[in-house]
Amino acid sequence: MTLPTKVKLVEVGPRDGLQNEKQQVPASVKVELVHRLQDAGLTEIEVTSFVSPKWVPQMADNATVMAGVKRKSGVRYSVLTPNMQGFEAAITAPSVQWPDEIVVFAAASEAFSQRNINCSIAESIERFRPVVAAALAKNIQVRGAISCTVGCPYEGDIAPKSVALVARLMKDIGVQHIGVADTIGVGTPLKVQHALEAALSVYDINSVSGHFHDTYGQAVANTLRSLEVGIWQFDTSIAGLGGCPYAKGATGNVATEDVVYMLHGMGIETGIDLDRLIDAGQFISDFLQRPTNSRAAKALFNKRMA
Ligand code: HMG
Ligand code: MG
Repeated sequence: MTLPTKVKLVEVGPRDGLQNEKQQVPASVKVELVHRLQDAGLTEIEVTSFVSPKWVPQMADNATVMAGVKRKSGVRYSVLTPNMQGFEAAITAPSVQWPDEIVVFAAASEAFSQRNINCSIAESIERFRPVVAAALAKNIQVRGAISCTVGCPYEGDIAPKSVALVARLMKDIGVQHIGVADTIGVGTPLKVQHALEAALSVYDINSVSGHFHDTYGQAVANTLRSLEVGIWQFDTSIAGLGGCPYAKGATGNVATEDVVYMLHGMGIETGIDLDRLIDAGQFISDFLQRPTNSRAAKALFNKRMA
């Protein structure tokens, strides 16, 4: 079996990790988290989202956070933009630094699309169309996320053909890269493989990533299966934080620390310093006054203390 020799991780902790937190996390803490993550060697960071503050109050400080980040050379910063209003906010305010990449997010389930972004799948594509065109015209990269690619909290199992359909719609409007998301973490390795293969029927292997929530403890196994399929790009979240306010019962993303531990153990390069990563996880866990969800971070932290 040939596994990728190098893996790219997109750290989604500051966005997916924090968007579901009930207590308001100050912008200064979010900025500090981004700094710690980049200092640990992460080169792709999803910083915030330009969504409605009524829908996701935790992300209302998006412009302040983007303005506060001290950019590090070699690091790419992304933000979620569900519509033109969000895209314009991401690039217009004078204090805001432009993102290197924007993310438009659709779903493979109609019911989830309605709950999450208040429109049908077809309508979401029409909303994204001008966003993608405007971003590309400004040399901003465009990633697409497809939620609920294996299961939906409202519709149950999702067929791979629904994933292929949304991937095709995304590709047709110019989305350059697609993230296959298991939003509620119900996927098991073969189901996730089938969702990935559906995306791979439209996008090439370098343009598909995995985004796995860990609700049922399957995310590391799903990541390993993805590697075996040849996927080498993953979204992960520091301390395993995360969850979508519109995906009831969904818990955090796969922990960055757990994935890095696995990859390094397999001799796969990430460029990430696991010790510094654990410190970044400890920083945000201390702030949230909650133990980390990362098993590897817990084990290594305890070992340090012994
Ligand atoms: P809408 O209500 O249909 O939008 O919301 P609208 O265009 O009719 O506008 C209604 C109001 O929202 C107006 O304000 C607009 O100004 C405002 P009002 O006049 O009532 O005061 N508005 C905005 N404000 C700020 N920024 C904007 C924006 N757009 C409209 N961009 C909308 C549609 C998409 C905006 C809304 O449904 C929304 O914000 N949803 C948030 C969804 C979200 O953030 N979900 C979590 C992220 S996705 C995720 O976590 C999944 C992922 O991790 C992958 C996975 O795991 O599956 C990526
Ligand atoms: Mg997510």
